[in-house]
Amino acid sequence: MERVSWQPLALLLLAAAAAVASGTEVGYDGRSMVIDGERRLLISGSIHYPRSTPEMWPDLIRKAKEGGLDAIETYVFWNGHEPRRRQYNFEGSYDIVRFFKEVQDAGMYAILRIGPYICGEWNYGGLPAWLRDISGMQFRMHNNPFEQEMETFTTLIVDKLKEAKMFAGQGGPIILSQIENEYGNVMDKLNNDESASEYIHWCAAMANKQNVGVPWIMCQQDQDVPPNVINTCNGFYCHDWFPKRTDIPKIWTENWTGWFKAWDKPDFHRSAEDIAFSVAMFFQTRGSLQNYYMYHGGTNFGRTSGGPYITTSYDYDAPLDEYGNIRQPKYGHLKDLHNVLKSMEKILLHGDYKDTTMGNTNVMVTKYTLDNSSACFISNKFDDKEVNVTLDDGATHVVPAWSVSILPDCKTVAYNSAKIKTQTSVMVKRPGVETVTDGLAWSWMPENLHPFMTDEKGNFRKNELLEQIATSGDQSDYLWYRTSLEHKGESNYKLHVNTTGHELYAFVNGKLVGRHYAPNGGFVFQMETPVKLHSGKNYISLLSATIGLKNYGALFEMMPAGIVGGPVKLVDTVTNTTAYDLSNSSWSYKAGLAGEYRETHLDKAKDRSQWRGGHHPGAPPLHLVQGDL
Ligand code: GAL
Repeated sequence: MERVSWQPLALLLLAAAAAVASGTEVGYDGRSMVIDGERRLLISGSIHYPRSTPEMWPDLIRKAKEGGLDAIETYVFWNGHEPRRRQYNFEGSYDIVRFFKEVQDAGMYAILRIGPYICGEWNYGGLPAWLRDISGMQFRMHNNPFEQEMETFTTLIVDKLKEAKMFAGQGGPIILSQIENEYGNVMDKLNNDESASEYIHWCAAMANKQNVGVPWIMCQQDQDVPPNVINTCNGFYCHDWFPKRTDIPKIWTENWTGWFKAWDKPDFHRSAEDIAFSVAMFFQTRGSLQNYYMYHGGTNFGRTSGGPYITTSYDYDAPLDEYGNIRQPKYGHLKDLHNVLKSMEKILLHGDYKDTTMGNTNVMVTKYTLDNSSACFISNKFDDKEVNVTLDDGATHVVPAWSVSILPDCKTVAYNSAKIKTQTSVMVKRPGVETVTDGLAWSWMPENLHPFMTDEKGNFRKNELLEQIATSGDQSDYLWYRTSLEHKGESNYKLHVNTTGHELYAFVNGKLVGRHYAPNGGFVFQMETPVKLHSGKNYISLLSATIGLKNYGALFEMMPAGIVGGPVKLVDTVTNTTAYDLSNSSWSYKAGLAGEYRETHLDKAKDRSQWRGGHHPGAPPLHLVQGDL
């Protein structure tokens, strides 16, 4: 009997020991992150799960690993997960647990940047527009309504990931987590220093209360840093930057591999040489963890931000292009660098170091020494001339302009950031691939604008012109404003509309009379267009569209959209004076387009007969087709 009862107990104890052993212990000291007792030099890259499809994730993550990355970093996208208050979405591209499991399956670490304000060229910086409806709400300040919602969402995400055992201590991949995002950039512009300071300290306390078992970071928080977080750097270069305290490691959360794409602007390129220069400089100057923002940028599927500014592509000129292809020579040149840095992990994180400027502050030799070995970096910040640098052993090395040479033994240059050994690849369209796209059939269905032109009732009426985001709750990018007026006889006028953007279509009696948009990323604009009124009742319908909500800057949430207050006027074409000011007429409102209500994108069976075109290689130009009204 005794033996029988002893065995299960021993098994239980063994199982418990195994569970503890499978967890990874994560901490840090002044030199680096410490994982299971070892200092670690870590290279990470950003891949945002909603900017690609779950089918793409394994391939992207595998390519990142092969590119020499140890970790994948992602933000968490609050308004994608909670589009309506307490209604959640963790499906498809928003299946965050599946994403982290893919990272784990690839044998990589993960960095979780909850935010939940995330900036990221994402609609409203990730904050749900419904937050505005909660009374007393002030975004990103010390106030109960905001802090309660932020804590509820943060806890929800943490619990979900804990339940799936995704934190390192549970055997999962997450080794680091972030709260807020670049608050230091705005906190002194919020006109309330006290509340901003209380808020950022509250964020740190709330995060630490979550008990995730891994450290919390705050990026671009160089002032008023709460004691229990690590402050980190974002930017194109972070070699001159050092953390606020000596007991925390130097971490770079965003090394921008390119930049986001804006309408009307040329594609942004950052050379492989310049990124490599910045990374080498960072590790020369005691860096220990660096993250590429973005490693794969991907696509903005409908949640792009910034007003009429940022495109649907988030390619970012990253090492993996929008479609997940390897972009050379960027990918290969950085992979070579990662290999060299990895080979020096021990000496960089444990060695003594000495920085020596060579005649000019632009030229610096850093020598790391450990036991009997040494490793050297020689950096040249002159952008117009190479330099000759003689090391202790008497050997002279030529270092090209704006470059860093790395000598893992202080003798042989294993890597120079300006010398690319990777073959450059050029994308070409292969004939076979074109056949595939030729086979794609486009069909289209015109938007049925008719109902709101004249007769259909709106959702409500008001004798003023309302702000769009508050009125539509960001549940649609479109808001209809319609009014009518009795007119005697037939006359011509100029319709004048003043709007805070982003796009406007005007219809008179069901006919499209004008369209305009805010150019150059601006917001406020005026539309003036000739109109003809007939005798009797005339309908004026204005369709205002937003193209993503602002995501950055102090008080970005206060930026209005739509025809707030107008004025909307009919101007006499002869005297150029106001004939009718319609600003306080009775306006009828309706958010959304017919296609959105019908969920046309779901290709429902009942709608199928209305699709046109079929088997056509190209769709018609994408604008509202008047003839289709
Ligand atoms: C950073 C921000 C990121 C992203 C980036 C530009 O300042 O933290 O979220 O917006 O700029 O792509």
